[in-house]
Amino acid sequence: MLKTLILNGPNLNLLGTRQPEVYGSTTLEMVEDLCRTHGSSIGFEVTCFQSNLEGALIDAIHSAKGEQDGLILNAGAYTHTSIALMDAIASVELPVVEVHLSNIHAREDFRHVSYIAKVAIGQICGFGPQGYTLALDALSAHLKNRQAQ
Ligand code: DQA
Repeated sequence: MLKTLILNGPNLNLLGTRQPEVYGSTTLEMVEDLCRTHGSSIGFEVTCFQSNLEGALIDAIHSAKGEQDGLILNAGAYTHTSIALMDAIASVELPVVEVHLSNIHAREDFRHVSYIAKVAIGQICGFGPQGYTLALDALSAHLKNRQAQ
């Protein structure tokens, strides 16, 4: 079974009540349940972690090296600011799929920049909670393609 860590960054613990007009009414717990269910249906053991702290996210990325086959990351606002998260991803050499619930490219200009995108295998945004299951499918396809090479 393949292993993946689903990482959610700052303020995503408030999903369900946080700006529902932007992020919807699904809670983080529901998103994580969806990931576990969909993940196991396509052969992934899914671990979930959320933190509001940049350093805790970096530590989680470091710990994933040698433990996980890939990562799914919604870094929240750190997406647009964190060279440290970008460097952490580059350092562990694990495939990362970047996820955002909202379409960051249709929002304020400062959200159009993603440091994560520079080191991710791809970005999925604008599909709400379904973005996470799309990310699992994308990571699965990426890992299978890599195995076949
Ligand atoms: C977000 C988009 C970010 O710009 C924002 O700071 C978030 C959530 C999303 O999932 O749409 O916290 O990552």
